[in-house]
Amino acid sequence: MYAQMVKSTGTLMSREDMSPQEAAFQDRVDAGDKIEPQDWMPEGYRKTLIRQIGQHAHSEIVGQLPEGNWITRAPTLERKQILIAKVQDEAGHGLYLYCAAETLGVSRDELTEDLLAGRMKYSSIFNYPTLTWADIGAVGWLVDGAAIMNQVPLQRTSYGPYARAMVRICKEESFHQRQGYSIMMKMVNGTPEQREMAQDALNRFWYPSLMMFGPSDKDSVHSAQSMAWKIKMNSNDELRQKFVDQTVPQAEYLGLTVPDPELRWNEEKGGYDFSEPDWDEFYQVLRGNGPCNAERIGARQKAWDDGAWVREGLMAHAEKHARRVAAE
Ligand SMILES: [Fe+2]
Ligand SMILES: [Fe+2]
Repeated sequence: MYAQMVKSTGTLMSREDMSPQEAAFQDRVDAGDKIEPQDWMPEGYRKTLIRQIGQHAHSEIVGQLPEGNWITRAPTLERKQILIAKVQDEAGHGLYLYCAAETLGVSRDELTEDLLAGRMKYSSIFNYPTLTWADIGAVGWLVDGAAIMNQVPLQRTSYGPYARAMVRICKEESFHQRQGYSIMMKMVNGTPEQREMAQDALNRFWYPSLMMFGPSDKDSVHSAQSMAWKIKMNSNDELRQKFVDQTVPQAEYLGLTVPDPELRWNEEKGGYDFSEPDWDEFYQVLRGNGPCNAERIGARQKAWDDGAWVREGLMAHAEKHARRVAAE
């Protein structure tokens, strides 16, 4: 049934093809009901959600790595504290999302194993290196900014645990975006070299940030069915456009130049025209050939291996506790 419903072309299942149960489910989704873990759901819905929430969780966790790289080198104690808090928030986001995925009948261990084996992805943006302090500004401003753009509509997603996790995550993401913008403000008002670093960071992170919304709608494989299920609330191109429209004035305020010669305001559509990112590069990075893919997965593998004794210790403790309770 799964293959039939989410044919990899992403074709939408029509009403006539639905069983009565599937049609009743679709009616609930259409009416804006929240689907809860104990409710009946189509297998395709469950699997698509596991993939989406799992990849989202992995992105939060892997996303700590490029920033963690700068904790020891943050320029002031205050910036260091802020960055530590931000990276810690991302760990929290990962945990809420793994918990949300677990309500669908998959364990966190399974999701982690899928990530390490390359069967699951995380956002391709985290395969780019953070070379200077200005990159931490650009990541907060652009990457967390794009994350917010993606995640705010997901607060209305049909799956209850996912929608509720998004509420808190979005609040924290807006703080992240502001801390990034505040770094950029400081840099552009600093020395000519600092301003240059800020421009260079924007140059390198602009297109990878646009890629965060996924391929163009015409090439996006899972969209139609996911939108019918309200797992996805807006199309990739819609969100990308909104992001560009919001971000260009922010770049102007910083006095920085968006690295796109085609960028111009289009009065008629009420938005900017802009160049698409290099999709070949996107698919290369997705396939594991980005600048930092091996490093990121290597770091996750090491953390998993190093943490084995903690997992074993917790299991032993839980078993001992259960035996004691049973004996009493
Ligand atoms: Fe996050
Ligand atoms: Fe964030």
